[in-house]
Amino acid sequence: MLQYTNPVQIPKLLIRNLFISLQHFSGADNFMTEPSDCLQTLTPMLVNFSGKIVHPVDPVPWALDMFAAYLSEADMQFRERSVEVNESTLLYFDQKDPASFEQFKHRIDSAQPVHGSLPLIDFCAGDGTVRNNADWAWQIYNTIFEQKMATCHPMGSYLRSTMWMSCGEHRYDVHCDLFDGFLFHMSGCKLVRVWPVSKEHSDMVIFNHSDFDGRMASEAIEFNLKPGQILFIPSGAMHEVISIGDEPSVSVSFHMGSPFPMPTLCIQLNKMLQGGKVSLSPNMNSINKFKMYFFEPTRFINTNNGSQDGMPEELYKALAEVLQSENIASKTMRELMSSWWQIAMTQPLYQGPYPERVSGYE
Ligand SMILES: [Fe+2]
Repeated sequence: MLQYTNPVQIPKLLIRNLFISLQHFSGADNFMTEPSDCLQTLTPMLVNFSGKIVHPVDPVPWALDMFAAYLSEADMQFRERSVEVNESTLLYFDQKDPASFEQFKHRIDSAQPVHGSLPLIDFCAGDGTVRNNADWAWQIYNTIFEQKMATCHPMGSYLRSTMWMSCGEHRYDVHCDLFDGFLFHMSGCKLVRVWPVSKEHSDMVIFNHSDFDGRMASEAIEFNLKPGQILFIPSGAMHEVISIGDEPSVSVSFHMGSPFPMPTLCIQLNKMLQGGKVSLSPNMNSINKFKMYFFEPTRFINTNNGSQDGMPEELYKALAEVLQSENIASKTMRELMSSWWQIAMTQPLYQGPYPERVSGYE
């Protein structure tokens, strides 16, 4: 596996001392739900750390060391409050300026609103990166999620793990993610509001995430996260995260799934075609994060028509309705889609969810 560049050597003894079992955080051996049981469900849920989860015992110094070492790859934002209009403005630190770390740390130390994130793992289609001094996150994925993910996502899946550090009642803007998300909370307190995914949105076969208002039409559920807890946030569920109190908050998230970009499907179908062309209407061609259209083949694997022989009818109908075809007979189109489905179910066709992967695939 590839490593990020510029690895920073941390004394081995220090690393060893940083990692212990987190059993003392929760003191709970009798938790009922395994985190992996939440995958592909629509219910936001709190789960306690189990004894088999191991990560840094002292998360605040670990997180600060990681920001110091990988500043140029970190995203750091803060809020300036304006008393006159009782509002705050979101500003960003310059990650290329070495002085930004001290400014970030000062805000952490003095409990002023600040937030930083740093990718730890980026893994898809059998390749990716694990940051130095974050091997434990890779172990957590392998121990807790990998087996279930292979069953849930036979065409392959994407994994991203990210470290989050915040302080001073910083509010991270409301948004939703393309993936099932697990927030492993290690230090400080956080208030997380999650708007459960409505049936209307979960029933959409082809979807994007532009409808923030619609996805927030229901009442939010509030979770007061304490160290030792894992919050499951379903794919597509809007959420807002606020650090509470003066103690710095440190969490590590794991986002995983296989939302399939419609542009990637078109590229793959056109590769299989001899003559003719499949395309999307202009309004579905966006590769903007929230406007790009996706479907989730895995949702159809266990439906009645979800055999490996042909594409399930509901999925076929929805895709055929939006795919534009030139010089392709409808019978050929159906055969084409069935061939694609058979390949997708038996070979790892999934190339990931992001525009750069889509555009780089051709
Ligand atoms: Fe998120």
